[in-house]
Amino acid sequence: LRVDKAGHRHFMAKEIAEQPSVLRGALEFYSGPGDEAPCLPEGVDFAAAGRVVLVACGTAYYAAQVAKYWFEQIAGIAVECDIASEFRYRNPVLGPRDVAIFISQSGETADTLAALRHVQGRVGQVLSVVNVPTSTIARESDVALPIHAGPEIGVASTKAFTAQLLVLALLALRAGRDTGRLDADTLAAHLRDLAALPGFMAQALDRGEALRDIAAELGEARDVLFLGRGPMYPLALEGALKLKEISYIHAEGHASGELKHGPIALIDQHVPVVVMAPRDALFDKTMSNVAEVMARQGQVILLSDRAGLAEAGPGIAHGLAMPAVPDLLAPIVYAVPAQLLAYHAAVYRGTDVDQPRNLAKSVTVE
Ligand code: G6P
Repeated sequence: LRVDKAGHRHFMAKEIAEQPSVLRGALEFYSGPGDEAPCLPEGVDFAAAGRVVLVACGTAYYAAQVAKYWFEQIAGIAVECDIASEFRYRNPVLGPRDVAIFISQSGETADTLAALRHVQGRVGQVLSVVNVPTSTIARESDVALPIHAGPEIGVASTKAFTAQLLVLALLALRAGRDTGRLDADTLAAHLRDLAALPGFMAQALDRGEALRDIAAELGEARDVLFLGRGPMYPLALEGALKLKEISYIHAEGHASGELKHGPIALIDQHVPVVVMAPRDALFDKTMSNVAEVMARQGQVILLSDRAGLAEAGPGIAHGLAMPAVPDLLAPIVYAVPAQLLAYHAAVYRGTDVDQPRNLAKSVTVE
């Protein structure tokens, strides 16, 4: 299979730009013939689920962390979420009604595969969310749910992350229906929201052009912090991971509420702080953390919608007006500016964006 950059300077840029069409394709795959709204994945059943156990590595692990919020909020099922290399060696307590979900772009990551083999025979159902349907993880799971992202060449995962989130959102909705927690109207509303996702991704890409100059400032920084709350907390972790992977700038993601328990000691006028804050129920809490950063001369880069930026006022260093999106979509849509910040910062620094030093696309050794 030959994949080219389709006119982009890097595979990563192409893969970021492809996200609206990738997600449209994945939504079509998970739609019945003639259905306007996406359908819930077949072959899985959460009706008797004791817990949902989510396991993955790297960026896929951050997708798992977002899904933890969704399964709990939408389906009311307790969730265990861990990094594969920890999970496999800590003798996790498992039950015959647990549904284990392994998330892997390649489907070949050694730690994730070993964790999958560890749960076999110990849980009720083993699912995988994979980009490569012929992969080992797909073959060894009871049900493999493809993300349909197409080949991802850039070592830093982008379109696979958002496609993983889409499939995990569909799974959480399925779980909500299976457990009876989600009523038909709310489910239909969520499915309509998901159908609008490709359009929001396109808007986020358009607006993301404004990040080029901000990314150049990040490119001059020694340390960068990313903050988020709720499902945006794993997005802060992903934003920091993307930036360090390809630009080699030291970056840390934190839950906004943890700022005062340590990271705030790092803040001065030289530290950009990227805050991912859609106007959700936690927005005001995050804004009080923004105020704490500004009071210490931290340079706040606020990603929010117009109303959120207006509320934040003039003290922020930069604001990026994101489209106003339904809560369920925010972690998917806000992945775009996180990716673009890292991408443009890396281009500014002149690093090897698609093949960053010391990293491999698929880690098949322990
Ligand atoms: C490597 C890649 C990451 C990826 C991780 C998990 O570290 O560089 O981009 O997130 O492996 O890979 P997987 O194929 O299991 O999703």
